[in-house]
Amino acid sequence: VYAIGIGAGDPEHVTVQAIGAMNAVEVFFVVEKGPDKRALEQLRLEICERYIEHDRYRIVAIPDPERDRDATAYAAAVREWRVERARRYEQAIATELGEDGVGAFLVWGDPSLYDSTLASLEAALAGGHVTFEVEVIPGITSVQALAARHRTVLNRVGGDVRITTGRRLREGRAKLDDDLVVMLDAECSFKALAGEEGVEIYWGAYVGTPQEILIAGPLAEVAEEIESARARARERNGWVMDTYLLRRRRDR
Ligand SMILES: C[S@@+](CC[C@H](N)C(=O)[O-])C[C@H]1O[C@@H](n2cnc3c(N)ncnc32)[C@H](O)[C@@H]1O
Repeated sequence: VYAIGIGAGDPEHVTVQAIGAMNAVEVFFVVEKGPDKRALEQLRLEICERYIEHDRYRIVAIPDPERDRDATAYAAAVREWRVERARRYEQAIATELGEDGVGAFLVWGDPSLYDSTLASLEAALAGGHVTFEVEVIPGITSVQALAARHRTVLNRVGGDVRITTGRRLREGRAKLDDDLVVMLDAECSFKALAGEEGVEIYWGAYVGTPQEILIAGPLAEVAEEIESARARARERNGWVMDTYLLRRRRDR
């Protein structure tokens, strides 16, 4: 079973290695995550049509289990949800792939970054009803795509870069000592730093797609512009995926 990184939205992010692997696959497992994510599922199908040179492959949907976000026992609810998801992966692999069958999950960006595919495959193996080997084909992450579109480098000379989430930034658990890449942020968490002098932001939504929006500049000056561009885009498309780099300006 391959976990194939497909890049962050531009079909041309797909690597030659990924195309080679995709052409060897019989069954593509597509995890259905609800109406918000339909456009992302669609892109996966387009990638198959564009790069696979035969028609001997099948698409098998795996509906993602409903997650009870209001559960009082939050940790227990998340655990249960993970177990159920792994069970569905296990069952799909066992029923859809033969003895020497080759399957694949097409993973947004790269499987190494804020993605649960590898953990779910490991849990599916641990279920003990089916055995398979996992091979990972790396893809271009949204972080690399963002840096490229802003023609910037993630770290400063000899410096560190940290990748974090909007939630951790809001909770003050990710500090701006390092250059900071923020993902999974539905709440424009950069606003908390907008009052600080000398902070710069490089923001991108739908990077690599025709809807791409890029805004960069001093955070104090562009924070509101980003917030309203994000809100309008969300309204227009029904969903938005954005990532940004924050850094403190270093004056000589
Ligand atoms: C569940 S994570 C998956 C990350 C993915 N594995 C990767 O390598 O980029 C989803 C987050 O990735 C970021 N993201 C993914 N695609 C993006 C894109 N085309 N433009 C901007 N941000 C993107 C957003 O921060 C989004 O909330």
